[in-house]
Amino acid sequence: MTVTIAKPMIPGAATASVGRPDILVLTDVAKTYRPLNRADVVAICPTSITVADGEFVSLVGPSGCGKTTLLNLISGLILPSAGEIRFNGMPTNGPTGEMSLVFQRPVLLPWRRIIDNVMLPVQVMRLKPRAEYEKRARDLLDLVGLGGFEDAWPKELSGGMQQRAAIARALVYDTRMLLMDEPFGALDAMTREELNMELMRIWEVTGRTILFVTHNIAEAVLLSDRIVVMTPRPGQVREILTVDMPRPRSLETMAEPRFGEICNHIRSMLWHKPESRARRNGASGQ
Ligand SMILES: Nc1ncnc2c1ncn2[C@@H]1O[C@H](COP(=O)(O)OP(=O)(O)O)[C@@H](O)[C@H]1O
Ligand SMILES: [Mg+2]
Repeated sequence: MTVTIAKPMIPGAATASVGRPDILVLTDVAKTYRPLNRADVVAICPTSITVADGEFVSLVGPSGCGKTTLLNLISGLILPSAGEIRFNGMPTNGPTGEMSLVFQRPVLLPWRRIIDNVMLPVQVMRLKPRAEYEKRARDLLDLVGLGGFEDAWPKELSGGMQQRAAIARALVYDTRMLLMDEPFGALDAMTREELNMELMRIWEVTGRTILFVTHNIAEAVLLSDRIVVMTPRPGQVREILTVDMPRPRSLETMAEPRFGEICNHIRSMLWHKPESRARRNGASGQ
């Protein structure tokens, strides 16, 4: 069966078309790792991306193309080799309390019970009223399927359960921006869909900005305003496309023909190598 593409793909503008100011601006950001006793690794070629305030943007690309590197650069955990990252108009020089991160692997403090791990940001930032945040933490633990494990220690939970606790911790208070690195990769399909819906709801209600890394193309299309498709390493933007599907979206959205078209378009970009390979193997420049 031939699928007719009724509407052309809308290439993403350099700036989001939603009319809100850019909160995150990456200008020609590059990263080369220089490991001791090993050859340099060019992880990111000069890359420019903008994210508007309140926008939901996903990064998709092959394994090793530098997605985690980009999130670590944006969060200030590592510094770029070249280029500039601005958040809310200011150059980033290190981690800021305005971004929360969900890593690929859960990073829980082993000496704190699960509820105390989820409440950690609330305690560190002395957020009040504490009782309300604790109720929210318990509700979030319920939502991610950890009701009843509030008083467990991290080592008593499986890897997937620990990751769910880490997701609850990232959602416990409203940071300006949420950076999520394949957060749902370790979850079963049903929990994943449930959390996709919950994440969309939280995003719609709180208006926070989300940058979301995923290998799952359907998940990216369902959730995002725009999708940044990256090339294989050294990573660079292959295409930025706007998901021109109305909101609110639901799981039924995935059954619409347009949804399938966009997924296929991204899939074909990931499967077909870019024409110019000149910049590979350590060559710099776009
Ligand atoms: N700390 C590091 N030192 C050296 N090389 C690294 C380091 N972190 C990542 N890399 C390399 O950088 C490239 C991009 O990695 P990464 O950002 O983790 O990719 P992705 O998240 O897209 O899978 C890979 O080739 C990886 O081996
Ligand atoms: Mg990664």
